[in-house]
Amino acid sequence: MDEMTKFRQCLGQFATGVTVVSCRDQDGKSCGITANSFSSVSLEPPLVLWNIAKVSNSLGAYLSAEHFAINILSSQQQSLAAHFAKSENGLFDDIVSKDSQYSVPILSNTLAHLECRTHAIHDCGDHHIIVGEVIDFRLSDNEPLIFYGGNYTGVNS
Ligand SMILES: Cc1cc2nc3c(=O)[nH]c(=O)nc-3n(C[C@H](O)[C@H](O)[C@H](O)COP(=O)(O)O)c2cc1C
Repeated sequence: MDEMTKFRQCLGQFATGVTVVSCRDQDGKSCGITANSFSSVSLEPPLVLWNIAKVSNSLGAYLSAEHFAINILSSQQQSLAAHFAKSENGLFDDIVSKDSQYSVPILSNTLAHLECRTHAIHDCGDHHIIVGEVIDFRLSDNEPLIFYGGNYTGVNS
């Protein structure tokens, strides 16, 4: 096994939740990317971050978006995680979502979502770190979807 594969496997030992980060591009088109790089940063002010690969087709949209949302998926939403990991146009076409106050598409029936104003963007290796100031959030008592070792699982499975 080469070093890069081993490195990826090592990183995969860290169990995470799964999010879909959404925004609108400059033409108003909805964008969504499955991401598990989400992390909390600060309580006061309320800041969170995620990382986007520089090779992403949606990179321009996220770098120029004033607002974005972190949609935290529930254990019932594994199919959404696979759906938004695809590099295709029109990913929102058959998806149930509602627009936030800043027209960011918010997925329905998630575990939670956080709506953010883009606070800072840091160029970092082959990714950009996008830091958002949380301006609105909502949570439910659904069960989380977990990503571990390259597979989806639940907290009790
Ligand atoms: C569980 C999981 C977590 C992922 N996390 C990230 C991430 O944090 N950042 C990222 O840029 N891509 C991540 N990806 C890959 C993107 O979802 C995928 O490359 C992207 O949706 C491809 O479309 P795009 O080229 O339009 O960005 C992840 C994929 C999966 C399945």
